[in-house]
Amino acid sequence: GTTLGASAAEKGRYFGAAVGTYKFNDSTYMTVLNREFNSLVAENEMKWDATEPQRGSFSYGAGDRIVSHARSRGMSVRGHALLWHAQQPGWAQGLSGGDLRNAAINHVTQVATHFRGQIHSWDVVNEAFADGGSGGRRDSNLQRTGNDWIEAAFRAARAADPGAKLCYNDYNTDGINAKSTGIYNMVRDFKARGVPIDCVGLQSHLGTTIDSSYQANIQRFADLGVDVQITELDVMQGGNQANIYATVTRACLAVSRCTGITVWGVRDCDSWRGSDNALLFDCAGNKKAAYNAVLDALNGG
Ligand code: G3I
Repeated sequence: GTTLGASAAEKGRYFGAAVGTYKFNDSTYMTVLNREFNSLVAENEMKWDATEPQRGSFSYGAGDRIVSHARSRGMSVRGHALLWHAQQPGWAQGLSGGDLRNAAINHVTQVATHFRGQIHSWDVVNEAFADGGSGGRRDSNLQRTGNDWIEAAFRAARAADPGAKLCYNDYNTDGINAKSTGIYNMVRDFKARGVPIDCVGLQSHLGTTIDSSYQANIQRFADLGVDVQITELDVMQGGNQANIYATVTRACLAVSRCTGITVWGVRDCDSWRGSDNALLFDCAGNKKAAYNAVLDALNGG
């Protein structure tokens, strides 16, 4: 293939980008987006603060715009994210206990119902595990409603949109380490008890090195019977950016259950990582060396 999306499709996979509707009137941005990618995810527009700014009052305009753009061009859509400790609306930040649990599960049900049938994969729960060596859960208002909040969210999402793949998504999971092992144990437990989970998202916000167990980590999740998706890939420029991008791409292609890769933005200037210049296109929309490395890897190089 000659584009990321077409080359990934030849391998039975998608290649996506995170987008913001505030860039949809930028023609350089849209040219690259429409040419290269066959999957989109909202960088912010489907988060809790965006979709339920007041309790029980839902706002889907920006998310709908992303879905409609994707569908009109035959792109699939990742949904990000139903529940997360960050980017909660102010009203939810002030809740706790059973009241928060009810509000959270209602949020999952309402949003997944609204987008029912249009989402390839939902990040049902985002970033619920702690950094460091504990392998345990992150403290948050959601976690304080009880350890079963994650499975309750997955059950509600399955009931609302049975056709969407349901993912658990996190960062600093880019190799076999205490945090990814904590998630691995949760997924194994969910599969054993019949809690509905279909995929694990490895965000892959990377610096200038990549863990030597990156592919083995993908493989061990796949061996549990879930798909793996690389969900928020970006890599700091200045080290071996092109090589690291190619290594991630080859690792995903080497595991049959690694079904797609999403980069967390289009051009360097669109990225939350600012001067890291972490993406595949420069600010003028030109292909970088990292782009050529990914395309080559997708095409078997
Ligand atoms: O929209 C408001 C704007 O009205 C206001 O004037 C401006 C002033 O700060 O803020 C704007 O909102 C910002 C929003 O991005 C949209 O640009 C928020 O402040 C800013 O916090 C928010 O950052 C996002 C961040 O998640 C929030 O935690 C980034 O764009 C987004 O890339 C980032 O994405 C996360 C994933 O969801 C989860 N994994 C990590 C990843 C990177 O942090």
